[in-house]
Amino acid sequence: MRNKVIAGNWKMNYSIEESVKLISELKQGLTETDAKVIICPPFTSLETANALLKGSKIELGAQNMHNETSGAFTGDISASMLKSVGCKYVILGHSERRAIFGESNEFINKKVHKALSENLVPILCVGESLEEREKNITKDVVKNQLVVGLDSVSAEQAEGIIIAYEPVWAIGTGKTASPAQAQEVHEFIRSLISEKYGQETAEKVIIQYGGSVKPDNASELLSQKDIDGALVGGACLKADSFLGIIKAAKN
Ligand code: PGA
Repeated sequence: MRNKVIAGNWKMNYSIEESVKLISELKQGLTETDAKVIICPPFTSLETANALLKGSKIELGAQNMHNETSGAFTGDISASMLKSVGCKYVILGHSERRAIFGESNEFINKKVHKALSENLVPILCVGESLEEREKNITKDVVKNQLVVGLDSVSAEQAEGIIIAYEPVWAIGTGKTASPAQAQEVHEFIRSLISEKYGQETAEKVIIQYGGSVKPDNASELLSQKDIDGALVGGACLKADSFLGIIKAAKN
C-alpha cells in the first residue's frame, strides 16, 4: 500500500513574511490525514519554514539544487546546504528547469545521484510537451527522461525516489490531463520501473501527477490506480486550495 504524497511547489513566490503567513494557515487548517505533505518554498524561506514546521506533519523540500558539493557555481545551491536548513526532499528536473534553464537529462541524473548520496529524496519530474503529445511520442520522451534520469541508480535507491509525471502542456495552463490520460502514463512509468528494477520495487515507488491540480479535480486524479499523489503549483499558494487537495488524498 502506497500512502499518498502531496507536495506544493511554491516556485518563485513569497517573501519570508508571506511564507510565514501561508505556513501558519496550513498548520492551522491541516486535519488528520494519512497523506504525506511536503512544501517546497523558495530558498530564502527554507530556514524560517523549517523552524515553523517543527513538530508539524508537514515536511520540507527545495525546488532545485546543483550536483556539485561546493565551488564556483554562482547563484546555485548544494545538497548539504539544503540539508542544513531541514530539507528532506528536492524537486529535480522540473520542466521549467529543463525548458528555461536548459537542464539536460544527464545533468539531472547527476543531481539525482548527489541528492541520494546526501539522503535527500529526489522528486524527479518527467513529462512531454504539447508538441510531443501531438506527435504521439509521449511514451518515448518519458522513457528517455526516466532511463537517463535514473541511470546507475540502484533498486534500493529507486524505492525511495518520488517520480512526478507532469505533462508540460498542463502546467500552469488550467488544462489538466484527464484521469485516464494521466493513469495511462503512470501505468507506463510503473512498468518501466518494473522492467528495470522488478515488480516489488515498482510497487513501492511513488508516482505523483502534476499539472493544474486543483481541489475540484484532485479526487478523481488521485483515485486512479497508479497515481500516488500530486505535485501542485498554483493551487498550493493559497492555504484553502492546498488543504482541499490534501483532503482529497485518500488511500
Ligand atoms: P501547476 O504547476 O499546478 O500550477 O500546473 C505544477 C508544477 O509546476 O509542479
